[in-house]
Amino acid sequence: MTELVVHDAAELVVGPGDGGLERCPGGAVAIDDGAVVGVGPTDAVIREYPPENASRTLDATGKTVLPGFVDPHTHALFAGDRSGEFLARIDGKTYTEIAETGGGIPVTVEAVRAASDDELFDNLLAQLDVMLAHGTTTAEVKSGYGLDTETELRMLATIAKADERHPVDLVPTFMGAHVVPPGAETDEYVAVVVDEQLPAVAAQGIAEFCDVFCEQGVFDVEQSRQVLETGREHGLEPRLHAEEFAHIGGAQLAAALEAASADHLLQATAADVEALADAGVVATLLPATAFSLDEPYADARAVLAAGAPLALGTDLNPSCFVHSMGFVVSLACLRMGLHPAEAIRAATATAACSLDRDVGALREGAPADLVVFDLPSATHVPYNAGTNRVETVVKGGRIVEGRGGEKR
Ligand code: NIG
Ligand code: FE
Repeated sequence: MTELVVHDAAELVVGPGDGGLERCPGGAVAIDDGAVVGVGPTDAVIREYPPENASRTLDATGKTVLPGFVDPHTHALFAGDRSGEFLARIDGKTYTEIAETGGGIPVTVEAVRAASDDELFDNLLAQLDVMLAHGTTTAEVKSGYGLDTETELRMLATIAKADERHPVDLVPTFMGAHVVPPGAETDEYVAVVVDEQLPAVAAQGIAEFCDVFCEQGVFDVEQSRQVLETGREHGLEPRLHAEEFAHIGGAQLAAALEAASADHLLQATAADVEALADAGVVATLLPATAFSLDEPYADARAVLAAGAPLALGTDLNPSCFVHSMGFVVSLACLRMGLHPAEAIRAATATAACSLDRDVGALREGAPADLVVFDLPSATHVPYNAGTNRVETVVKGGRIVEGRGGEKR
């Protein structure tokens, strides 16, 4: 018996294809054992997988089905409240000015260190609930608000526990090199990350990636290289925050290391995106950060013109309170000149590629992660900016959100 048949969608997006996406009008998808077993025009799919033989059916008439969103860059595990910085930004303070006057990441570090394991876990689940309600079915989550071995390990353990408990699949990234803890000296702290934190993280066996905030006044290229190369020796693949506020060479470092991803890239040059393309590094653009911090947007068209793989993420964190990949896709279209097909592909299949996950497309054999939007076409997903039109979310064949959803 088939587990679930979703049928008669006004438009079903299968995955990457000509013009960005392979779209199927009148589409259906049949699911068994958590995976896609049939996909295509409804007539053909239901001939092979009749709805009367399915445990459940979902009539998607007039609606759009996309692969679940994959969010490849989040700091979704945090504690405390930095809404005061939001007010300061309205009054014209920049991210860097706020950081120089005692705000920013260290404020969250203090709150995370003080939080109990249960508080951290509850905080993360609360963020994941919102992300799921907006159609995210897989998300990367970084540590980096501990900045000492014990708290970094606690953050990673929390991410692993939430991954087990929550429908959103999580990809854990170690980011001990997020910022230098107050009072420490940068080279000394890099030595702590390299000699103490990374071996402990590797022994814990949870993290898959290692990230560094390669930025003027934070970690320079050589310090970033040292952390990322040591991470790789411990089995953690590199990804990095590169060229966000100042251009210091992070993108070229990502290319030289053949990192999984180079993220932000607001200040990247044409030569940088060429190097990323040549090295096959995914350029992960985070337009909600530019939006939240009122910074210039990354040049998405230059990334595509150079032939680099382009992914989109939220960068959810206390200074960028955006959970919605749908909103990110809207910003990518309205502010970075991406077409809906390019943006949706970046928010699904290419994001999955940067995380080394086999999701982001509804092809036979793939995990059945999909989102039903109460909208008539994929173009309407970014067109409806700022409203959540997600009606149902299916994760691994199970309805986890919206109509007919099971209790978590
Ligand atoms: O990606 N740039 C560094 N890290 C985050 C901000 C984290 C924070 O402000 O708490 C980012 O923008
Ligand atoms: Fe970030």
